[in-house]
Amino acid sequence: MTTEFSILGYALVAFLLYFFFSGLIWGAGYEFTPRKQIEVAGELLKLKEGMIVYDLGSGLGDVLIFFARKYKVKCVGIEVDPLKVMLTKLRISTDKELKRLIQIKRANLLSVDLREADAIYVFLYDKTGIMKSLKAKLVSDLKDDAKIASYWHPFPDCIPQVSSGRMRIYAKQSMI
Ligand SMILES: C[S@@+](CC[C@H](N)C(=O)[O-])C[C@H]1O[C@@H](n2cnc3c(N)ncnc32)[C@H](O)[C@@H]1O
Repeated sequence: MTTEFSILGYALVAFLLYFFFSGLIWGAGYEFTPRKQIEVAGELLKLKEGMIVYDLGSGLGDVLIFFARKYKVKCVGIEVDPLKVMLTKLRISTDKELKRLIQIKRANLLSVDLREADAIYVFLYDKTGIMKSLKAKLVSDLKDDAKIASYWHPFPDCIPQVSSGRMRIYAKQSMI
């Protein structure tokens, strides 16, 4: 019994250490967008059934799950950390509708094809200058009428179309 407890204890500590410090391995920290702000993003992006939305750096999938449930949009989550990819897949695995609407891919967000996206959601740490690299990618990949929501960090040298608190919405055209 005691051995079982200590194995479980070590496993739990290892899981928690990985969860909170995996940013050191993948060069990407984790924090979730507060629910209220996800609601604001959905409204400002004017999401509608049938649209395709990408969350670049999807973490545990909170944004994807909210958008899929509320707006019935197709969602694609791109996440570099395999554990978060696995946990997100686990979260949606028991819900038929979420499984139909949400796709999760383990990849570097700078290397995925974004041509089909109608809207992009991001909440990324900008320590590595990722917002500048991502801006160039969005300009080259996205449809002309695509919109981008960024929580907390602005895209350099871009004026948002609309903003509410720390949520900024950009039109692709305003990034060029
Ligand atoms: C601040 S969290 C945001 C999570 C979620 N989008 C949300 O708003 O609740 C950023 C996430 O982006 C992921 N990430 C950072 N850089 C990435 C990259 N280059 N490619 C894919 N995922 C990345 C991190 O692993 C982390 O899970």
